[in-house]
Amino acid sequence: MTNRELQERYRQKIEAALERVLTFPPLPQEEVFSAMRYSLTAGGKRLRPILTLAFCEACGGEVSHALPFAAAVDLIHCYSLIHDDLPCMDDDDLRRGKPSCHKKYGEAMALLAGDGLLTAAFHCISNAPRQYGTDPDAALRAVERLSHYAGVLGMIGGQVMDLAAENRTVDADWLRQMHEGKTSALIQAACELGVLAGGGDEHDLSAAADFGLHLGLAFQFIDDILDVTATEEQLGKPIGSDDRQHKTTCVTLYGLERARQLAAESTALALDALRHFGSPPFLCALTRQMLERDH
Ligand code: IPE
Ligand code: IPE
Ligand code: MG
Ligand code: MG
Ligand code: MG
Repeated sequence: MTNRELQERYRQKIEAALERVLTFPPLPQEEVFSAMRYSLTAGGKRLRPILTLAFCEACGGEVSHALPFAAAVDLIHCYSLIHDDLPCMDDDDLRRGKPSCHKKYGEAMALLAGDGLLTAAFHCISNAPRQYGTDPDAALRAVERLSHYAGVLGMIGGQVMDLAAENRTVDADWLRQMHEGKTSALIQAACELGVLAGGGDEHDLSAAADFGLHLGLAFQFIDDILDVTATEEQLGKPIGSDDRQHKTTCVTLYGLERARQLAAESTALALDALRHFGSPPFLCALTRQMLERDH
């Protein structure tokens, strides 16, 4: 099987797992379910849950054991995008080629849909021992790692730093800490949860975190670059959003050329971290693909 075929296979399993999470009986609160489903099924690269499945396999585990963890990571990612697009945050009207959640459902429902997805993520993991026979210790540790990385010391903290850097020049240390928080943290969680599902040890967790850190930095560099160089059709989200919101990005701080070099350097460090796992071809190819991506 080629890397692309494997990626597609992982993606299909993830879509099916997310579909199961989103199946609700007819209830009076249908509107919020509809908003959650709208954003979650709008597409997206599914990078983070794919990493969870691939790390599980890299540790010798079975993909099916990692599915509830992978779904949880993507539920959190999706909530973070809904909130990120709100007028009080980046104020973006387009996401994944469709009107942003708040444009379609209104701000209050978008806020609640995000809250609903966040809560569903932790239900998904904590219910996995009962529903899928997941090892309860692994599920508990997964809740601990995910809540750490998604919280104020991770993703939320990064988003706070992103807002604080609007209309203001910050230095390279600030930018790095901001990117580590808003982007690397959830990618680190995705990788570590894969290790937990695959029965890996503390050394595996630490190597996965190292990989996620560097891949996340490269990923956000490219995201900042694409905001300047890509088209709206390619990205499925508004271009020039960072400039409009007076954001500090790697492009404003370093310029395009240096930003591209730094993305390549972070990618090389991420590839180094994969050596711990015997440099699995799929993960190496995916890491390189993220550097070359155009959306
Ligand atoms: C966008 O993430 C938010 C960032 C952290 C840059 P993705 O580029 O992974 O978004 P989707 O899931 O593919 O839409
Ligand atoms: C978003 O970063 C990071 C999180 C949602 C945690 P961006 O604001 O750069 O992401 P896009 O460009 O809107 O996808
Ligand atoms: Mg943002
Ligand atoms: Mg944004
Ligand atoms: Mg961006």
